[in-house]
Amino acid sequence: MESMKFNRRQFVKGTAAAAAILPSFNILGDEKNTIGPKDDQVNVAVIGYGAEGEILTDAAMKIPGVRFKAVCDIWEYRRKMARGRLRSLGHEINVYEDYREMLDKEDKNIDCVIIATPDWMHAEHSVYCMEKGKHVYCEKEMSNRLEKAKEMVLGQRRTGKIFQIGHQRRSNPRYMHAINRVIREANMLGRVTHAYGQWNRSVAPFLTVRDRLNIPTETLQKYGYENMVQFLNWRWFDKYGGGPMVDLGSHQIDLFFWVWDCAPISVTAVGGNDYYNRQMNDNVMAIYEFKTKQGVINRAYYQVLTTSSRGGFYEQFMGENGSLTISEIAARGNAVQREVRDGVPNWDVFAKQGLVLPVKKPVAAAVTSNAAIDVRVTAEADGWPLPVDLLKPAHMPHLENFFLAVRRNKPELLTCPANLAYESAVAVLAANRSVAEGKTIHFKPEDFHV
Ligand SMILES: NC(=O)c1ccc[n+]([C@@H]2O[C@H](COP(=O)([O-])OP(=O)(O)OC[C@H]3O[C@@H](n4cnc5c(N)ncnc54)[C@H](O)[C@@H]3O)[C@@H](O)[C@H]2O)c1
Repeated sequence: MESMKFNRRQFVKGTAAAAAILPSFNILGDEKNTIGPKDDQVNVAVIGYGAEGEILTDAAMKIPGVRFKAVCDIWEYRRKMARGRLRSLGHEINVYEDYREMLDKEDKNIDCVIIATPDWMHAEHSVYCMEKGKHVYCEKEMSNRLEKAKEMVLGQRRTGKIFQIGHQRRSNPRYMHAINRVIREANMLGRVTHAYGQWNRSVAPFLTVRDRLNIPTETLQKYGYENMVQFLNWRWFDKYGGGPMVDLGSHQIDLFFWVWDCAPISVTAVGGNDYYNRQMNDNVMAIYEFKTKQGVINRAYYQVLTTSSRGGFYEQFMGENGSLTISEIAARGNAVQREVRDGVPNWDVFAKQGLVLPVKKPVAAAVTSNAAIDVRVTAEADGWPLPVDLLKPAHMPHLENFFLAVRRNKPELLTCPANLAYESAVAVLAANRSVAEGKTIHFKPEDFHV
């Protein structure tokens, strides 16, 4: 499979060992994550050809049988970009300003719609498309309003269409390997008591464009945007987005649900708009308490900063026997670190099974400590690297998963259906509420179900 690259020696050894020892472990990846027959053409339209619309379109075009037929964007500049780029890559498309017109005129030509508009339009766009009989891939966050996210879940239920939400880590073979195989199946980390996630970004001014690219004010207002500043920087305005916490946290907080297979019972967050004087918080720090199906409490800390890029973005899962550090950028995290203490099983057996590559540095011969300062070292700081690489654009496996479900007409193949994405939307949106209300938000199990 093209998406994975293994160290050759490990691959040969690991495959044989894994087949023998862990029958459910499939080193070639999950069947869910492969694509369907090449000659089965799927015709696609896009709503919202901005930065992410372009990334998704580029990635989807690499999937055999995917043909783009139409693009809708309210910005003429982006419609021109879309037409030019897609034509240069062999896809002749019609472009539209209004999505309803596109759906009417292209009804017979399209099977699926990819939606990458600002969060506040996701519900309207996706429910309309599903009602028109189209399968939908819609970007995260489902919505910046919970009641709208709920409408999306209900819209899918009513129409029965295939509806994927764009938390692309859910289909990333590195994350699937680390979470499904290393943590959940093999239990390499023991009990994972804590998790950490961060997304830190440098100071950045509001986006601007040259005057000649401005959308006329009457057009902007027809589509609900007050002016170009709000249109371009929608993430920072409550009407259109959820600020950095929702924009970035949505990807990473979703992973806490995946690893622990349960929902949180509370979130306590602090934050503020302390640097930019914008509408949404420019920094948030949130603590989630999760209660597992075994009744155990685990805690996760999440932070988003927009005034320092220190550490970038990554996630950590910390267990009694070891920790996973992982990031969508593998160079920032792609290994498990073993706890150096008595009683932790030797991990050579896991390396032999192909779950990890051998540790990069030898385990410390001795562990030293003194009473005043904790100088104990886990000499495996560089850890045991994961044996899986993603050699495709980050969003491609998630789109492949979507098109596979479409081709087989099996919603159950999706790695991120709407009801699953809804759960993390509840938790992510509540962090902003906790900041605003200055108190802990307590969840009931039914809060996560529509
Ligand atoms: N999965 C990821 O890694 C990832 C990364 C970035 C963005 N996103 C998500 O993708 C979505 C788009 O983000 P972006 O960064 O591309 O924003 P963007 O501002 O660059 O693009 C949004 C596009 O939608 C168009 N648009 C706005 N309102 C519209 C309407 N009513 N009808 C048609 N077109 C409309 C705009 O003209 C623009 O071209 C957001 O939901 C965002 O959260 C996901």
